[in-house]
Amino acid sequence: LKRIDHIAIAVNNLEESLGFYQDALGLHCFSIETVEEQGVRVAKLDAGNTHIELLEPLSPETPVGKFLTKRGQGLHHLCFGIDDIEQELQQLKGKETKLIDESPKIGAGGAKIAFVHPSATGGVLMELSQPLDATKADH
Ligand code: CO
Repeated sequence: LKRIDHIAIAVNNLEESLGFYQDALGLHCFSIETVEEQGVRVAKLDAGNTHIELLEPLSPETPVGKFLTKRGQGLHHLCFGIDDIEQELQQLKGKETKLIDESPKIGAGGAKIAFVHPSATGGVLMELSQPLDATKADH
């Protein structure tokens, strides 16, 4: 695992939450996009050595919508940026880690992503992400 790629926070309303993160805290919001496959609108903020993503559900039936109904606004997941997601998933399976995604799917920006189940991580949903342009020089 190389670095924290982003920290994702589920919110009811992007613009309202940007009032804190962007206007009060002074973080730069560099993109707002709709990711239909994941049922969210995402605002990405530059937090120096990582990004913060604010996730607003497109409807209550989406995973983030259900999360908000059940738990309210709050930390949704941590994402580790890694170089080789297939190798990482094999390694986790070898250690009998409970995974949500046994194989990678394609996320925002063409990254390969997979989620590790919160029961394996201390209660926090964990995303693994291999960026589209990740170098495999280390392997
Ligand atoms: Co994420």
